[in-house]
Amino acid sequence: MIDLQQSGRGLDGYPLLFAQLQALLADERDFIANAAQFSAFLFQELADLNWAGFYLARGEELVLGPFQGRVACVRIPFGRGVCGVAAATRQSQRVEDVHAFAGHIACDSATASELVLPLVKDGRLIGVLDLDSPRPARFSLQDQAAIERLAEIFLQLTDC
Ligand code: SME
Repeated sequence: MIDLQQSGRGLDGYPLLFAQLQALLADERDFIANAAQFSAFLFQELADLNWAGFYLARGEELVLGPFQGRVACVRIPFGRGVCGVAAATRQSQRVEDVHAFAGHIACDSATASELVLPLVKDGRLIGVLDLDSPRPARFSLQDQAAIERLAEIFLQLTDC
């Protein structure tokens, strides 16, 4: 869902996802449980994804966390690839064409576009949330804003 042209459900579907995620995480605060659920939720609810999940900050690198999709690279130094840049800068990275992104790490050759959000709680970088799509320019600015809101809900309802 949540893709205007492709799925028939528009950006106005996001408020329902906000409520569904709140309900999904309401009774549990464990990080691994909630991160696993959140990955699965994104993967099943958002159209045209081939990977959705976490890389967790461990010192100066990211280590693979709960995810949905094909097996992926395990460790990514801060500053490398889209995920590493999101971690190093603490800025969301919305990449319409991964092949044009210098240093992109190709875990799955099917990936054409990506959205990576830094996850920061109480000033501490927890890791990044990585969404990959086989469709070029899958993520609009509106998608980014809505998925950032979903990530905020996850952080609020999870011990990390
Ligand atoms: N493509 C990412 C690496 C992680 S995988 O896509 C799951 C990147 O360049 O950061």
